[in-house]
Amino acid sequence: MISAPRPVHHVVLIGLMGTGKSTVGRVLAKELDRDFVDTDAAIERDTQKDIAHIFAEEGEEFFRLQESIKLTELLSEDHPLVISTGGGILESEKCRTLLAEKKSEGLLVVWLQASVDTMLERTARSQNRPLLAQASGKGAREDVLKSLMTRRNPWYKAAADMEISTDTMSIQRIVRTVMSTINHSAS
Ligand code: S3P
Repeated sequence: MISAPRPVHHVVLIGLMGTGKSTVGRVLAKELDRDFVDTDAAIERDTQKDIAHIFAEEGEEFFRLQESIKLTELLSEDHPLVISTGGGILESEKCRTLLAEKKSEGLLVVWLQASVDTMLERTARSQNRPLLAQASGKGAREDVLKSLMTRRNPWYKAAADMEISTDTMSIQRIVRTVMSTINHSAS
């Protein structure tokens, strides 16, 4: 665990699909008495389409643009938020730059991690993850996740202030770990 060197303003959760970003974000926001925003849900609300339809009808590039617009908008909010992001948000260079720039304003970026087996298990029943839906069978979905890990882990690593492996940790313990960093940063 790394202590954030300055008072924490927004908290952004990053990491691959099935690492627990939305679940952890919701509980963390409640504990901190802050608003919680899930960028996937916010984009679905704004576009009035679910992610699967956005990918199918507008394409991935359009979705990535919506992610960068949404992240820019959220990080410019004055009141501190807990934000969970889609696993591919750092595909956009704009988002990578934005997270780096906002560090000076007290942004805390938390990278949630999980093993491929855990991610497969947690995403098994999901209908709304087009990158996994394209792959038929467990082996193919495993390959997709492995190749996303190889591609994205360097971006997650560069952006993260702290990394938490969520395989065996309870939600409450993960939340307490993040809260402890936030509390240390405030002193
Ligand atoms: C994506 C992850 C999804 C969602 C979209 C694309 C990705 O979010 O944004 O399906 O590229 O990894 P979750 O990480 O919340 O599943």
